[in-house]
Amino acid sequence: AAPVRYEAENATISRGVVESNHTGFTGSGFVNYDNVTGSYVEYTVNAAQAGQHTLTFRYANGTTANRPLDITVNGAIAVDDLGFAGTGAWTTWRTVTTTVNLAAGANKIRTTAVTANGGPNADSLSV
Ligand code: GCU
Ligand code: CA
Repeated sequence: AAPVRYEAENATISRGVVESNHTGFTGSGFVNYDNVTGSYVEYTVNAAQAGQHTLTFRYANGTTANRPLDITVNGAIAVDDLGFAGTGAWTTWRTVTTTVNLAAGANKIRTTAVTANGGPNADSLSV
């Protein structure tokens, strides 16, 4: 099936703010994670079938430092320290993909900053 895009600005946000000051995002904006360890964006995504699904995160990181995120699915760690390398500018958006196991129906995918730099600016998650 075609991927469904979930906008970060519509997700549950802990220690982050919705902003729109850097162009190139989809939807109405993006999430600027607070630059602290533990800030997160949590998406609720639907899976038609249980099993392996590709997650595509669209993000910008205008620094030269990696801003890894831990990816949990329904409370369990699925990907430790998924890398979000610098994209060259806050207006340059790239994607990172990974594969996780989802349950059929609704799944909570939480993306939590691992370092004191916080996460990259988050635009969307496509599943
Ligand atoms: C800048 C930028 C923000 C970004 C922040 C950061 O302030 O404008 O969008 O989130 O840097 O370093 O995290
Ligand atoms: Ca930030």
